Amino acid sequence: MASGDSFFITTPIFYVNDVPHIGHAYTEVAADVLARWHRQAGDDTWLLTGTDEHGEKVLRTATANNTTPKRWADQLVESAWKPLLQTVDIANDDYIRTTDERHEKGVAAFIRQLYDDGHIYEGLYEGYYCVGCEEYKTRDELVETETGDYAGQLVCAIHSRPVEILKEKNYFFRMSDFQQQLLDLYESQPDFVQPESVRNEIIQFVKQGLEDLSISRSSFDWGIPVPWDPTHVIYVWFDALLNYVTAVGYGDPTRRDEFLRRWPATHLVGKDIARFHAVIWPAMLMAAGLSVPKQVFGHGWLLVGGEKMSKSKLTGIAPQQITEVFGSDAFRYYFLRAISFGQDGSFSWEDLSARYQAELANGFGNLASRVIAMVTRYCDGSVPAPGDYLDADLAIQRTVAIAAVAADAAIERLAIHEAIAAIWTIVDDLNGYITEQQPWVLAKDPAQAARLGTVLYTATEGLRALAVLLSPVIPKATTKLWDALGAETGLGALTAQPIRAAGEWGQLPVGSAITPLEGLFPRIEEPVPA
Ligand code: MSP
Repeated sequence: MASGDSFFITTPIFYVNDVPHIGHAYTEVAADVLARWHRQAGDDTWLLTGTDEHGEKVLRTATANNTTPKRWADQLVESAWKPLLQTVDIANDDYIRTTDERHEKGVAAFIRQLYDDGHIYEGLYEGYYCVGCEEYKTRDELVETETGDYAGQLVCAIHSRPVEILKEKNYFFRMSDFQQQLLDLYESQPDFVQPESVRNEIIQFVKQGLEDLSISRSSFDWGIPVPWDPTHVIYVWFDALLNYVTAVGYGDPTRRDEFLRRWPATHLVGKDIARFHAVIWPAMLMAAGLSVPKQVFGHGWLLVGGEKMSKSKLTGIAPQQITEVFGSDAFRYYFLRAISFGQDGSFSWEDLSARYQAELANGFGNLASRVIAMVTRYCDGSVPAPGDYLDADLAIQRTVAIAAVAADAAIERLAIHEAIAAIWTIVDDLNGYITEQQPWVLAKDPAQAARLGTVLYTATEGLRALAVLLSPVIPKATTKLWDALGAETGLGALTAQPIRAAGEWGQLPVGSAITPLEGLFPRIEEPVPA
């Protein structure tokens, strides 16, 4: 994309029935890396996240805890969900709660318009509902259990808990009207739903035929009232999906320009909720005459012991368990490097610890401290002037140029793991270069002073490029490196460095004052919990 374009990226809004686990933090981190990258590319970037606070699931949790759903939500948002953003270092631009007045007003305006335009009618819903999923279920999405607490009952295949049988008067959204338009959308915009596996599943699902969607409930009242019939509240997913537009001004005449400037968005979601985002949501937008999202990307699951990690199955890991030992940078790096974005990935403490040691501490951290230490010792602490460049030096320049272009192209495809792998070629090549060039030997021979300058300039300039390119992924470590390189004085703040120009050689000013660098990724005494 061209610099200056709007880049609006969202995470799902999370249910406040429970505290966050690493699966939630994973989406936050992926969205944050993309947002930081685009900000550094000069794009008009907006990162939105938040919480989904209505519906039966939250209501039941609050009731079970002897409180009201609003009080419950307030408490969880402040004690758990907003702190998650600090835990994994998210630079979000906005945080929406579905109990915000701006949201409730926007939702009311939206549903009213659909009702006035004939997209909503009253009917009878008879069928199954899983409160865990907050989703209407068909018979083939349920399984009959033979053993355990629910033997003989129909349970949701995801939650392994019994479903409810509903028979209510509901309002329905004429979603079936949009079947062909949706199929045309998937056809004409092949990257609307990604990755391919999720796209194929969505197309199959829509081809089987779309039913109208029940969008109201009347058996409880924790939700946004249906404007023309306050005995009903709006179905929690219909309400929640609208956060993506109400946050940026939909429904508020005073924020019309903002809405037009930001929308449409790129949505990052777990593949289990891709259907809501790639079927229901675009159909809702089509009915309202609004643009469909730019893209819906369904990422994979974090698996523990081969199964989707989940709190309800007691395999949930809290993000702080990892960040307290390894730090937020390592959390960010690990999940985005080790797992191909879009595929499932197994989490293990052993793998995390091995990558921390090999890639972050030995690969990148040591490279940075060794180079800084050598410039301090051999060049009086200032970046030396390069002499003539030889083939080995030019090879590093090429690596940097190629890595920067490849990383940007990978980010454009949301292949975050590929972007990091491309950048890591600089780490590997620079480590090899230093081993071969042996600056410590050159330093002993006054006749090699010019060559020493070239080698150490090449190494520090390589670190400059690494700091800029890795800043979206490991913001804390790269900021320390930037300071140690003395780059701020000559080049300005790290986050202001144009990332698409990161591969252009020779930006670090000769003579920049280098300062000592503490170990970026220190040794960890007990990396794998007992
Ligand atoms: N509130 C809805 C989303 C509404 S968006 C308009 C919801 N909330 S949730 O709290 O259940 O969070 C779901 C998100 O967490 C989904 O994207 C889901 O895929 C993700 N994950 C839950 N467990 C996960 C893993 N084990 N691994 C990766 N992501 C996982 O659904």
